[in-house]
Amino acid sequence: MTLPPQPGWLQTDDQVPEPEVSQRFLTAMSSLAATVTVIAATSPSGQRSGMTATAVCSLSTEPPMLVACVNRSSTLAKTLTQTGWFSVNLLSGAQEDVAARFAGRSGLSGEARFQPELWDVHPTGAPVLRDSAASCVCHLANAMQQATHLVAIGAVHDVILPVRGAPLPLMYHLRRFITVGGASGESP
Ligand SMILES: Cc1cc2nc3c(=O)[nH]c(=O)nc-3n(C[C@H](O)[C@H](O)[C@H](O)COP(=O)(O)O)c2cc1C
Repeated sequence: MTLPPQPGWLQTDDQVPEPEVSQRFLTAMSSLAATVTVIAATSPSGQRSGMTATAVCSLSTEPPMLVACVNRSSTLAKTLTQTGWFSVNLLSGAQEDVAARFAGRSGLSGEARFQPELWDVHPTGAPVLRDSAASCVCHLANAMQQATHLVAIGAVHDVILPVRGAPLPLMYHLRRFITVGGASGESP
C-alpha cells in the first residue's frame, strides 16, 4: 500500500523500476561504513573455507549471539551448515591483504586462501585468524534462507581478544578499505 503524499514528504516517482531501486540501494549501502570481518569454517572432511564479510552484527549479549548474512552460493555457506562451527574474525587495519584474499580478489578459493602462518585451530575445529581485533567462535543456532543469502545466527561460544588492546579496525566505505582511528568524543 502506498500512502498519499503528506506535507513535507519527498515526492518521488512512484513507478521507480525495481532494478533502479536495487542500484540506488547498492549506492546507499556503500555509505554504510562497516568493520571488515573474515568468517571461516572447517568442513567435516577438514577442508577450510572462508570469506570476507561486512554483513555482521551483534544480536544479543546475554546470551552472546551475532548475525551474519552469507551468500548461499558461497563455499562457506555449505560448510557452515555442515558442521555448525565457525569463527567471525574482526580485521585490524593491518589486515587489508587478508580481506582482499578472502573476497576472492587474488583468484584463490577454499583452502588456498589460508596462509598457514596466519591461522590457528580452535578446539571446536573453527579456524581462528591471528592478530585480528577480535575473533568470535560461534555455533550455528539458526539459519534462515532469505533471497540470495543465508541469515546465520551464531551463539558465541568463545571470544579471543588481543593481549595488547584492540588495534584500529579495517573498515569498508564507499567501496574502499579504510582505517579509522581516534575517538570523536567521550564514551557514553
Ligand atoms: C568488503 C567486502 C564485504 C563483503 N561482505 C559480504 C557479506 O557480508 N556477505 C557475503 O555473502 N559476501 C560478502 N562479500 C563478498 C565475498 O567476500 C566474496 O564473494 C567471496 O569471494 C565469497 O567466497 P567464495 O568465493 O568462496 O564463494 C564481501 C566482499 C567485500 C570485498
